[in-house]
Amino acid sequence: MKLGEFLILVTGAAGYIGSHVNKLLHDEGYQTIVLDNLSNGHEEMVKWGEFVRGDLKDTKLLVSLFKKYNIEAVIHLAALASVKESTLFPQKYYTNNFQYTRNLLNIMEKFDVNKFIFSSTAAVYGEPESIPISETSSLKPINPYGKSKLMVENLLSEKSKSSDFNYVALRYFNASGADLSAEIGENHNPETHLIPIVLDAALGKREKIAIFGDDYPTFDGSCIRDYLHVNDIAIAHLKGLEFLNNQKSDVFNLGIGKGFSVKEIIESCEKVTGCEIPTTVEDRREGDPAILIADNKKAEEILKWKAKFNDIDEIIESAYNFHKKLG
Ligand code: UFG
Repeated sequence: MKLGEFLILVTGAAGYIGSHVNKLLHDEGYQTIVLDNLSNGHEEMVKWGEFVRGDLKDTKLLVSLFKKYNIEAVIHLAALASVKESTLFPQKYYTNNFQYTRNLLNIMEKFDVNKFIFSSTAAVYGEPESIPISETSSLKPINPYGKSKLMVENLLSEKSKSSDFNYVALRYFNASGADLSAEIGENHNPETHLIPIVLDAALGKREKIAIFGDDYPTFDGSCIRDYLHVNDIAIAHLKGLEFLNNQKSDVFNLGIGKGFSVKEIIESCEKVTGCEIPTTVEDRREGDPAILIADNKKAEEILKWKAKFNDIDEIIESAYNFHKKLG
């Protein structure tokens, strides 16, 4: 990487979504610095850009990065992202997700870096009042994870009104799938997300899949989610960078605008893998809303973003190809 060129700092790029964003930026000719503490990410997922292992709480390290490189914009994905863990360790979530983001913003301000893309979440809405959920729906997160993300959104909003700082906050619905190269994908430890768990069961790495609740007010009793492909999420970050050139700030939902039930996901996994997947029905998981589906019109109209993947079998197949390689 040559010094003196404009660079994008991507935090959390060793993680699931971050690695796909980093790859796309590279494919589109951007130069990236990747900052990740590897608490949840994997170094082998950082195949592009310059990797720096470190924490967002490390002010000295951040200052040295902003001094050394001509950073034009920051894409901030580094965060803790388990809803359940956040209910057990709320302070950890407020510290990591809010306090360390504030630290990053303080340093950006010192170095006059004014473009910021923030990984937000559908969890900022809590129990939705109506479906599909638009950006103007009320923001009533029901767990510390969603609350910590909303605190950052509030700070970003105030900051952008009072200075020439601009941001795009992307509220992801359910990230899923993997890059078609199958070289990067979803690999959490422990894994809590539905699709990788079902695929593990198909690959014989788990005995069965537990369906958390089949008495929800949905057509088949299981929860419905809006699963969107991680490469579509990555594209929205590129669109976000372009949008920031207009010196404006905004918040967008990212979803395909269509929902699938837990049972439908299991059926699709069976179809894609050709394996029968044993299931059990267990109690509802705390804090799970029955249905989360994005109203994605705003991203379509303003960002000119629309999910390219809207076939759930295709999304699951891409995840399966990565999973098979993971072994
Ligand atoms: N589920 C099961 N069995 C499992 C795992 C999950 O039935 O073993 C169900 C869940 O109860 C839920 C659905 O599958 O109804 C999807 O669960 P995930 O854990 O895959 O995803 P969530 O919808 O809970 O969470 C995701 C992100 C969060 C984000 C949230 C926003 O992982 O970071 O979407 O809606 F906050």
